[in-house]
Amino acid sequence: MRDEHKGSAISDAKCASIGPGADTAQAAQRTARNSMAYDALLDDPYPFYKELRQSAPVHYSAGRGAWMISRFDDISRIEASDALSHGARCDALFAGLSEEIRNRLPTVCKVVPNHLGHLDSTAHTKHRKLMQAATARPVITALKPMVEAKCKARLEALNLTQDVDLIGDFAKPLPFEVLVAAMGLDHRWPLEDVEGWTRNMLGDFALATMSTDELDRKERAVGALSSIFGQLLSDNHGTSDSLIIRALKKAMIKQGLGLDAAICTAIQCLTGGYESLRHAVSVGLHTALNHPQWTATQMQSGGLSVEAVDELMRYDCVVQKLSRTVSKPVTLSDVKVPKGANVHLLPGSGNRDPERFANPDTLDLRNGSVAHFAFGAGPHYCPGAGLARMLVQVALTALLNHDIYSYIRTEDAQWDRDERHRGIARWPVQVQQ
Ligand code: HEM
Ligand code: HEM
Repeated sequence: MRDEHKGSAISDAKCASIGPGADTAQAAQRTARNSMAYDALLDDPYPFYKELRQSAPVHYSAGRGAWMISRFDDISRIEASDALSHGARCDALFAGLSEEIRNRLPTVCKVVPNHLGHLDSTAHTKHRKLMQAATARPVITALKPMVEAKCKARLEALNLTQDVDLIGDFAKPLPFEVLVAAMGLDHRWPLEDVEGWTRNMLGDFALATMSTDELDRKERAVGALSSIFGQLLSDNHGTSDSLIIRALKKAMIKQGLGLDAAICTAIQCLTGGYESLRHAVSVGLHTALNHPQWTATQMQSGGLSVEAVDELMRYDCVVQKLSRTVSKPVTLSDVKVPKGANVHLLPGSGNRDPERFANPDTLDLRNGSVAHFAFGAGPHYCPGAGLARMLVQVALTALLNHDIYSYIRTEDAQWDRDERHRGIARWPVQVQQ
């Protein structure tokens, strides 16, 4: 066995600033101290990943309290093994809540532990069947015209006589409008309210340390989404059901799962892509613009293929860190990772591993013959991947064919400072008349 600390060229400060999510005060301090290096890492983490893969592929970061796993084969092997638990962190969070907090959060305590990302083994497999029905291929195919129409309307609404923010005016609102329509939410539930509840639900998870006001807001947000989907899913007439609600109604009967499980799945359909979809559009566009020749070749038939979208997502992916707890000891690249350890899998690093991809740092459709990690791997592989690929394909094709294309400059993109999700926060475009 190799001692993972000896001979490692990777400073812990560097590791500490990659991937996190735990968002501790300590991490914030480290972040401030290393802010320039940190910003550079977030803008382009790939050179750092290369260093990690070469000199410390299974590295314990004391700052993070977690093992960083950077090689494709290690990520792939551990994801396919039974040595990981998804639920442990979420279970610990809920088990540690006081009686008083639990009583304040009845809906949160009922719904959130049943999210797929928080479940393991049999319970996970069972609940996932509902999600698979909701995101099945025919559902996605049937949704495509609606996505095209929403995309066209968004582009037509851009006011090209003044400056545009590609994120605020397009990449951010479009996916949520699509998700809301796909779930069959109509004017009864104003979009701003639904978005506010979604943001709150996906926001801070530190339930144990929240003020009573924050807890009440969290309960109201989860309660509101549960109540909406409860109404839609128990409406026996359901003549105006969306395809997804219809699929969920059928699947809950077939799988013998109750209304609560279907409500929880519906919430995940609405919220699961909230951040990732907008980032996938912006990061995909950034990569496409940085590779004009490749993009022009892909656009020869008028639009991007799904394979081209997939390669864009391999090359620069949105989800940069996946957290797990090791449920039994596992050996990766000759390093033994103990039971109970936290691991951070780094999909962006695996996706650029030369041991796996012939041309990892080049956009090349031949790389696509190997599965990549932009949507995870193993039993928790993203169930929304088909929907996501279709939306990104429609949105990028429309942008690349639109007048605004010639004014977009990659150097104006302002990267988001969120370490778990790689994305662009603002992207001003000056339209010259
Ligand atoms: C009040 C709401 C929620 C709470 C308290 C919560 C809690 C947690 C916790 C504690 C973890 C482990 C994170 C870590 O170890 O760093 C987690 C992971 C996860 N959660 Fe949630 N969650 C909530 C809402 C959601 C929603 C709405 C979704 C939507 C689908 C979701 C999907 C996931 C996924 C996919 C993971 C695994 C991510 C990863 O490996 O990094 N969660 N959640
Ligand atoms: C480009 C957009 C998207 C990206 C990059 C993305 C990425 C991912 C990744 C990497 C995972 C694996 C998490 C893990 O293993 O811990 C995941 C899981 C998940 N995603 Fe997505 N996702 C996207 C869109 C969506 C959409 C549109 C939905 C909703 C339909 C969705 C719902 C989920 C759910 C429910 C899980 C948890 C699955 C499970 O644990 O079994 N995602 N996603």
